[in-house]
Amino acid sequence: MKTVTLLITACSLLFAQQLVFAQGEALFKERCSQCHSLPKMDERTPAQLAKIVDVMQEIMVARDLTPLNDNEKSELLAYLETKAKQTDADAENLAEDAFMVRCGLCHQAPDAEMLKINQWKIVLRTMDQRMEKANVPLMDEQERELVLQYLTQHARK
Ligand code: HEC
Ligand code: HEC
Repeated sequence: MKTVTLLITACSLLFAQQLVFAQGEALFKERCSQCHSLPKMDERTPAQLAKIVDVMQEIMVARDLTPLNDNEKSELLAYLETKAKQTDADAENLAEDAFMVRCGLCHQAPDAEMLKINQWKIVLRTMDQRMEKANVPLMDEQERELVLQYLTQHARK
C-alpha cells in the first residue's frame, strides 16, 4: 500500500512539475514576444534572467501592459531556469550580473577593457540618455553602483 501511495505522490509531483514547465513555456511565448521577437536565453545565467524579467516588468508597466503576477512570474522563471546557461551556483557575482543585464539590453554588453574608467563614466551618461529616449527604465542607485564597480574592476588601466 505504502509503495503505491509513494508512487502516486511521485507521479503527481512530476506531473505538477511538468505542468509548471508547460505554463512557463506558454507564458514565455505569449508574454515575451509582445515587444520584440523571443529573446535567446541560453547565454545568460538564471540570476541574470531573473533580473531581466524584473526590468521587463518595469517596461511593461511603463507601457501600460499588465505585468506578470507573482504566480506567472515564478512559472516563467522555473521555465527559463531550464533554458539558462548553467553555472556554478556559488559563482554569483552581483556586479557582473548587473552589468550584463543592464548593458546587454539594447546591444551586446561591451568589453569593459575597451575603455578607462573615466571614459566609461562619460559613456554611462550617454547611455542614460539613450535609455530615457528608448523608454527603458534607468538604473536605480544600487544597480548604478554595481555597474560602476564592475567597470572599475575591469576597465583599461
Ligand atoms: C513592454 C515591452 C516588452 C515586453 C513585454 C518584454 N520586453 Fe524584453 N525588451 C523590451 C525593450 C524595450 C528592450 C530593450 C531593447 C529593445 O528596445 O528592443 C528589451 C530587451 C530584452 C532583452 C535583451 C535583448 C536580447 O534579445 O537579448 C531580453 C533578453 C529581453 N528583453 C527579455 C524579455 C523577456 C524574457 C520578456 C518576457 C517576460 C520580455 N523581454 C518582454 C521590451 C519588452
Ligand atoms: C536603451 C538602450 C541601451 C542601453 C540599455 C545601453 N545602451 Fe549602449 N548603446 C545604445 C545605442 C543605441 C548605441 C549606439 C548604436 C549601437 O552601437 O548599437 C549604443 C552604443 C554603445 C557603445 C558604443 C559607443 C557609443 O556611444 O556609440 C558603448 C561603449 C555602449 N553603448 C555601452 C553601454 C553600457 C556600458 C551600457 C550599460 C550602462 C549600455 N551601453 C546600455 C543603446 C543602449
